[in-house]
Amino acid sequence: MSLQTLAQQTASDFVKAFGREPSWIAAAPGRVNIIGEHTDYNDGFVFPMAIERYTVIAAAPNNLPGITLRSAAGQGVAAIDLGRPLKPGPRGAWSNYPAGVIAGFIARNIVPAGFDAVIHSSVPLGGGLSSSASLEVATATLLEAVTGAKLDPVEKALLCQKAEHDYAGMPCGIMDQFISTLGQKDHVLLLDCRSRRTELVPFTDSTMAILITNTNVKHELTGSEYPTRRRQCEAAALALGVPSLRDATGELLERSRGKLDEVVYRRARHVIGEIARTPLAAAAIRRGDWAEAGTAMYASHASLRDDYEVSCSELDTVVDIARAIGPSGGVFGCRMTGGGFGGCAVALVKTDSVDAVVATLGRQYEAATGIAPTMFVSRPAQGATVLKP
Ligand code: GLA
Repeated sequence: MSLQTLAQQTASDFVKAFGREPSWIAAAPGRVNIIGEHTDYNDGFVFPMAIERYTVIAAAPNNLPGITLRSAAGQGVAAIDLGRPLKPGPRGAWSNYPAGVIAGFIARNIVPAGFDAVIHSSVPLGGGLSSSASLEVATATLLEAVTGAKLDPVEKALLCQKAEHDYAGMPCGIMDQFISTLGQKDHVLLLDCRSRRTELVPFTDSTMAILITNTNVKHELTGSEYPTRRRQCEAAALALGVPSLRDATGELLERSRGKLDEVVYRRARHVIGEIARTPLAAAAIRRGDWAEAGTAMYASHASLRDDYEVSCSELDTVVDIARAIGPSGGVFGCRMTGGGFGGCAVALVKTDSVDAVVATLGRQYEAATGIAPTMFVSRPAQGATVLKP
């Protein structure tokens, strides 16, 4: 579904729910990370692109001291009382994301007047494509329209990250909120998470496609794996005597191996290798060296699977099938993308071969796992936008 169609649907749902036209419509995309996984909270590099899947919010003033948010995904209505200090709701509630963003605006003394809103999303929920960041950034973009205050994009991304930390209880890095805010059509974004310097890498060769395969599984049951990985990285940096793993080299790690617990050693080996791989893969994509970019993607996956241990059998199955299809069948590289433990894999595929790859991958994945995958291609999309007024 195009962004235009999704926006029209959101507007017409707004009319149905509230009996008047929306005054504002804002949208923010999900993302897929091409390479640079679990590096953002280690001051490293990431290389994500925004995808043509969006969260859209339509809203109009309600002349009340409160905000009503209606989720079109059947997740009900959330009411926010602007007359009281905001606080996080129950763990797991979707309304924590917009509430955290609203709290971030209020903390900056940007207080919106009351409004009603309807939220729609084409980003698969919980599929590792940053549905939550797209909801946060869409909320922030809507609030900019509602209040007339324009935040610096970096500040806006950081505000949304803080909402995720404080309201959703997820100690994420900066990648997802940055790409949803700063993504540019036809470009992949190389982000240095330490300096926050960005470099836009064009991806305009129409003979090449980015294919996303949703395994349709999610194994992260307790939510503790991500914070545990973060702590292991901090422990590794401490043992190596560096401020963060960005400052470590493979050589330093090997020399200091005796000082590190075995698991912490492997976590660090992934992060150090992945930080080195990411700018090289970005350079390969810039010059259209698909074979080299693809090799880096497979290396990233193996490292996430064996050293970082955030893959799962379903993601490994997708990657193994993709590798077996190989360049002769139009597949240059494939890896898990996002936090892991299920969710999606991303593949670099020849456009001509997409249909055949989708058929083979879909059939073999389902035969191996008993689960039907969801697959789609996306060009790099534009970051957050105000569609109305
Ligand atoms: C999640 C987090 C990101 C990043 C990835 C792993 O998507 O939100 O900040 O750490 O995992 O690369």
